[in-house]
Amino acid sequence: MVFGIEPLQSPIINGFNTLAHVTSKTQPKKLSLPEHSVILPMTQLIWRPLATLAWIHQKYGDLVLGRLFGRKILFVSAPEHIEHIFNLEGKGLLSRDFLYDAKRVLFGNGLVNSQSEVWSKQRRLMQPLFSKEAVKQYELIIIEEAAAVAGNLKNAADGQVNLTTEIKKLIQRIFIRILLGKSVDSISNSPELIKVIEIICQELPVQLGSEIIFGSRLKRFIPLKSKRYHAAVDYLKAFLRQEIAEKQKHPGQDLISLLIQSSDRSTGYTMPAELLQDEAVNLFFAGQETTINTLLWFFYLTGKHAEVRNRIAAEIRQLPDEPLCATHLSQLSYTKAALNETLRLYPPTSALSTQTVHDIELGDFGIPKGVTVLLSMHTTNHSPRLWDKPEEFNPNRFLETATPERHKYAFFPFGGGLHNCIGKHFAELEMLLVIASFIREFNFETDISVKEAFSITLKPDRVIVGNVEPID
Ligand code: HEM
Repeated sequence: MVFGIEPLQSPIINGFNTLAHVTSKTQPKKLSLPEHSVILPMTQLIWRPLATLAWIHQKYGDLVLGRLFGRKILFVSAPEHIEHIFNLEGKGLLSRDFLYDAKRVLFGNGLVNSQSEVWSKQRRLMQPLFSKEAVKQYELIIIEEAAAVAGNLKNAADGQVNLTTEIKKLIQRIFIRILLGKSVDSISNSPELIKVIEIICQELPVQLGSEIIFGSRLKRFIPLKSKRYHAAVDYLKAFLRQEIAEKQKHPGQDLISLLIQSSDRSTGYTMPAELLQDEAVNLFFAGQETTINTLLWFFYLTGKHAEVRNRIAAEIRQLPDEPLCATHLSQLSYTKAALNETLRLYPPTSALSTQTVHDIELGDFGIPKGVTVLLSMHTTNHSPRLWDKPEEFNPNRFLETATPERHKYAFFPFGGGLHNCIGKHFAELEMLLVIASFIREFNFETDISVKEAFSITLKPDRVIVGNVEPID
């Protein structure tokens, strides 16, 4: 096979090789990875990840190869390539094992971190508890908690509210009731728990980012505040361990008890005790920050766009005059479109990474074993190649009547392939019920300007404050 790479001035700039610039003299085309070592802008991936990913995409295209400190990184943003990567991952040609150690401290062998047989047994066991039908059992808890907060916000003394505080507390209350079957108020150390969760959310991206970019060899040079992180993880695990022990003695209707009682019909597999704790931690992390931040972005965006806000309000307020329930949600197509548009602009999980463990082919190119592959939903969701005026907040893009033929991986906030989000149906139910509960009671308006802050999830860089106007 003869490879033709155009002279150096075109493909290799600042350590990036854009595959779009590589030509071949024979079919199929193949790429030899260049051996470059660059400090900038790759290191900026740590400090300004999203802006750097967007810059790489805009400057070099859909499939870009970079190299830093011996680690080859492939940036993939075309939906067709993303789909192919997920398919190849399903066939075992790519794997996330390289992140195993960095994630293990927190996630252990829970779904977020496990692979192969452990993962598939656990996923089969847990999947039925998260089906669209199964999650409806939680509607009452969500509505009850959301209605209480909506009532308080509606009656805010001067009409000024801090949604960040309120939505955070609300999602935590809902989540604790669902996971543990008890109210946050009954947990004596809940302030400490909230503190340790914040610490973990701050530290985890540093742990993972340094692993992705530098690898374990060089990670020790990164200023890791790992003592604080480890102490926080230990605290959370001790708390969950105690809760699980209680449920083992006195099971209830909570999610942990359901996990304890689940068994795989065909194999009889039940969840081993050590995995129960890991899965509880996984759900704890995967299930809260993601929905909190999506809701905050939703109210921020709709709080600033009167036309969208009014249309959502009209849709929600034409629901039958009866207590809210999950079946009403099918009538909220515009509200759902606005929620999707929020997830497009601000996907809480903004990038995923995996690694080739065999040589693979991607489009016309050959990618060798050992390359770290970065899929960024944030980059794809903002790509001008896929979206008209991508920075504009326009829910109409997600209305069935307005949707042009769009590749399913042009928008993939819940991931894809084997590790797609198990909590998607729960998250959608929860977010739409919270939105409907709030908007039945008040309008929220804001004139603040917020930027993206990168944490374990993509969050607003300041609190979302604004005015509520009660609905009579
Ligand atoms: C807006 C809300 C949410 C978004 C955008 C979201 C996004 C994602 C994404 C992108 C992944 C794939 C991660 C990867 O491939 O490495 C994922 C996985 C996961 N999510 Fe979610 N998530 C949300 C809410 C939830 C909720 C509410 C739960 C639980 C109640 C949950 C539980 C999980 C778990 C356990 C995984 C790992 C699945 C596996 O690897 O098999 N997520 N989520």
